[in-house]
Amino acid sequence: MNLNIIDIINKKRLSEELTKEELEYSFNGYLKGIITDYQMSALLMAICINDMSDEEIYNLTDIFINSGDILDLSKVSGIKVDKHSTGGVGDKTTLIVAPIVASCGVKIAKMSGRGLGFTGGTIDKLESIKGFNTTLSKEQFINQLNNINVAISSQTENLTPLDKKIYELRDVTATTESIPLIAVSIMSKKIASGADKILIDIKVGSGALIKSTKDANRLSKIMIKIGKKYNKETRTIITDMDSPLGKSVGNTLEVLEAFEILMGKEKSYLYHVSTILAANLISMAKGITTEEALKEVEIVINNKDAFYKLIELIKAQGGDISTLKISDNVIPIRSNKTGTLKRIDAYKIGILSRNLGAGRITKEDKIDYTVGIVLNKFLGAVINKGDILCYLYVNEESKYSEQEVLDCFEI
Ligand code: URA
Repeated sequence: MNLNIIDIINKKRLSEELTKEELEYSFNGYLKGIITDYQMSALLMAICINDMSDEEIYNLTDIFINSGDILDLSKVSGIKVDKHSTGGVGDKTTLIVAPIVASCGVKIAKMSGRGLGFTGGTIDKLESIKGFNTTLSKEQFINQLNNINVAISSQTENLTPLDKKIYELRDVTATTESIPLIAVSIMSKKIASGADKILIDIKVGSGALIKSTKDANRLSKIMIKIGKKYNKETRTIITDMDSPLGKSVGNTLEVLEAFEILMGKEKSYLYHVSTILAANLISMAKGITTEEALKEVEIVINNKDAFYKLIELIKAQGGDISTLKISDNVIPIRSNKTGTLKRIDAYKIGILSRNLGAGRITKEDKIDYTVGIVLNKFLGAVINKGDILCYLYVNEESKYSEQEVLDCFEI
């Protein structure tokens, strides 16, 4: 039977299950440029609205994995681990977790992504460091892992090219928040990246792509099942993303905050989440309990080994931290109310940060690494009228109103 994209879109619109052939025809066709952006957008939206069966998810994951190369890490000795976050606001955990794990002697082969929707991405954060090479070749990636236990790259060469193309389209078509599409996107990348053990940090809350614990549990189950199919031990952790993670949102600001955490200056929720993630990776790699691994984590933070590992990583990938720059144009935002701070809406902060210039609205948008938000008050704080709630780091094109910023804070 001759396949055609209009029938396939229509089938999904009617909530029917697509066959592997239909998925291949649509997605591989899109990669080849035979299926257009507008047709794929319609199909993605139908998937978003009408969901996918487990079988469709397995098939689509397979199509994504086989759309490009599969990284062979057999030349890297020992167990290789990888972690991924489903995305949130202020989530700079990779910048903290990767050096911790590496300084505990575990190899972390990290493939990272760019910002998606209102969430930030590790690659964008790292590119705020001048010279930092986020597109390592296969050889560079493997050599660096053997030399310093850690490498962070956006997709090396031809790895899951289909995910790259679909990810960019989802970002600008309001099709990011779909459990099947998230599962396929993340697990295909992780499996093609060649690590032996995979840890997924599922973020839940207003500032996450996943809004409910029910969805997080479903995502967790399906990801573990996908991992099993490919013989990769997969663990998931569900963490809160109702408030931004940490105090800074925006690319350079978040890199600076990661430095502070690794220097042991801040023992906040961000510290807690980062150390739990690191401990789980070490536990999987070394076959020890998470509690035992946590002790190792605390040692390398206290003795600064993890901090110096981050510096080593940045240097190894060509970055120069002396050039890190934040905007000089800093605007304090003061409360117009007195009361207790009940909520800092991560979603609104994410949108605000994007509008200041820290994220993209169209695929072509250039990020301003110097802009963002630094929170000055946290949940439960007693606020007096006139207190500074946060600082905005802005440029001339930053779009915001004071009211929009105040609306991020529920007092
Ligand atoms: N991170 C990814 O890599 N893909 C998604 O779809 C969401 C978060």
